[in-house]
Amino acid sequence: MSSMDHYCVMGNPIAHSRSPRIHGLFAELTGQALSYERQLVPVDGFAEAVRAFAAGGGKGLNVTVPFKLEAAAIATTQSDRVRRAGAANTLVLQADGGIHADNTDGLGLVADIVRNAGVPIAGQRVLLLGAGGAAAGALAPLLEQAPAQLVVCNRTAAKATALVAQHADLATLYKTELLAQEQQALQGDFDIIINATASSLAGAQIPVAASVLRPGSLVYDMMYGPAAQPFLDWATQHGAIGRDGLGMLVEQAAEAFALWRGVRPPSQPVLAQLRLEVQAQ
Ligand code: ATR
Repeated sequence: MSSMDHYCVMGNPIAHSRSPRIHGLFAELTGQALSYERQLVPVDGFAEAVRAFAAGGGKGLNVTVPFKLEAAAIATTQSDRVRRAGAANTLVLQADGGIHADNTDGLGLVADIVRNAGVPIAGQRVLLLGAGGAAAGALAPLLEQAPAQLVVCNRTAAKATALVAQHADLATLYKTELLAQEQQALQGDFDIIINATASSLAGAQIPVAASVLRPGSLVYDMMYGPAAQPFLDWATQHGAIGRDGLGMLVEQAAEAFALWRGVRPPSQPVLAQLRLEVQAQ
């Protein structure tokens, strides 16, 4: 038996996941000895797969589609972010059998916007498109940046209203005007527009009118590669600045790595390397 600690990412599908590459680079750069594998899990077999991984000495895992809700549900302890989002992307497997759940997706998004893109969220007007798991994970970390206004807009308006209600206390704390608005009746323009819908994957229309943009707005798609391109092309055609979600992917991984290892990996060189690899494909 090696003394290496084991980690993995569980999902279905999983073959496309870049997490093993990212965590491999983090381990190299921080001199940490660990293994990190992909694990394809049957859609009805998540809890069992986590138990088996823990029994085999696994120390932690990332969780992706479609298991983020279940990951939150099987945890014995949850971070405040997980409680609000109802979804987890990172599990810490503790020596006593406990499972701690966290959600680093929103932290990764904020780190990529503020640190990597150099765009402050504080005092800005932010539009969040979507009210599914991806949007839910982003909402608390966005509010913690104290934007002046945060509008959640979703095809199914009731889901946006529910998400806003779950975060009303944080909005008060950070003095943010937090609103749900209907897609058809969306008013005003925004400094930062974040696409957290699955519309690009569905090959659907851009889910919002160009009137939400102002010259120089930052338009962020949580996806990267070809899935993000139509939304980002639309943004640049209207004078906005487009940014894909590759940096979010690297930054959410960095947060998970720090949680597991107690060491913060350097994310910028890893993002630069990943960018080269994605472009080469
Ligand atoms: P995820 O975990 O990726 O957020 P999800 O929870 O299924 O996935 O949420 C998908 C989000 O994309 C939802 O906000 C969904 O809108 P609805 O709540 O109305 O279903 C949004 N979405 C999916 N396809 C869309 C489309 N073609 N146009 C606009 N929004 C879309």
